[in-house]
Amino acid sequence: MGLIGFGAVARFLLEAVNEQGLVPRARFTRVAVREESLEGRDPDRGVVWCTPQELVEAPVEVVVEAASVKAAAEWTVPLVEAGKQVVLLSVGALADSELRRRLEAVQARGGGKVYVPAGAVGGLDLLEAMQMGGLDGVRLTTTKPPAALAGAPAGILYAGPATEAIRRYPQNVNVAVAVGLAGVGPESTQVVLQSDPGVSANVHQVEAWGRSGRVALRVENRPLPDNPKTSYLAALSVLAVLKKFSEPIWLV
Ligand SMILES: NC(=O)c1ccc[n+]([C@@H]2O[C@H](COP(=O)([O-])OP(=O)(O)OC[C@H]3O[C@@H](n4cnc5c(N)ncnc54)[C@H](O)[C@@H]3O)[C@@H](O)[C@H]2O)c1
Repeated sequence: MGLIGFGAVARFLLEAVNEQGLVPRARFTRVAVREESLEGRDPDRGVVWCTPQELVEAPVEVVVEAASVKAAAEWTVPLVEAGKQVVLLSVGALADSELRRRLEAVQARGGGKVYVPAGAVGGLDLLEAMQMGGLDGVRLTTTKPPAALAGAPAGILYAGPATEAIRRYPQNVNVAVAVGLAGVGPESTQVVLQSDPGVSANVHQVEAWGRSGRVALRVENRPLPDNPKTSYLAALSVLAVLKKFSEPIWLV
């Protein structure tokens, strides 16, 4: 398997998979970083360091993207075109309908697939099922401590559609796009983002209502020690997807 990015999530995943063996029969063999940061990489980690382009050409079947919305927008199509199974954490890139259209075209020609982990929330299966019967609305309210929002003062920072939320806060509301794709679409999903010095966790509340009923889901996430913007659960959700690849029973 390959990784793109070597920040808080990628470091966690490399250790969990390669050193702790938390995913049976899985191992990261390559890590792609930006060309300018390739030099002097620690050879002792037991992986081949490369550029994202080299990862596209490498003989790995599964690639986990844990870099940025910009990197996801740039590399997802080439990776899928090369037949890779891509686990996309910076799902915010998929707010771009043109990118989704290109992925459909590539997949129709027999490329790989994109897997979107539930990330910092959960319940994507629930929203997808509700949408089959007709959803009337989906709202996500995300509350983070100021440290996770570049020191933003207390209060509502944004209220509006998920598409604009991810454009303004690409490192904070990937989850809004995941929720959007599962339910009524990122364009129609309402997002409220607020800064609150009274919380120590990253809190996501999903509300959905439609023909099958109502759902309210509240997740209080501890941040990853290396990056207060990122929830520990987001990194764990990638491990859960990787585990599915090697299991005979798939809970969906
Ligand atoms: N889906 C979710 O719920 C969810 C939750 C948390 C984080 N995320 C996203 O996951 C990604 C990783 O999070 P993190 O906490 O590890 O971030 P981080 O900032 O700690 O690390 C990101 C790393 O990626 C590298 N990078 C950026 N662009 C790159 C490129 N073009 N090529 C190679 N490397 C590149 C950076 O240099 C950095 O080392 C972020 O985009 C974040 O927004 C998604």
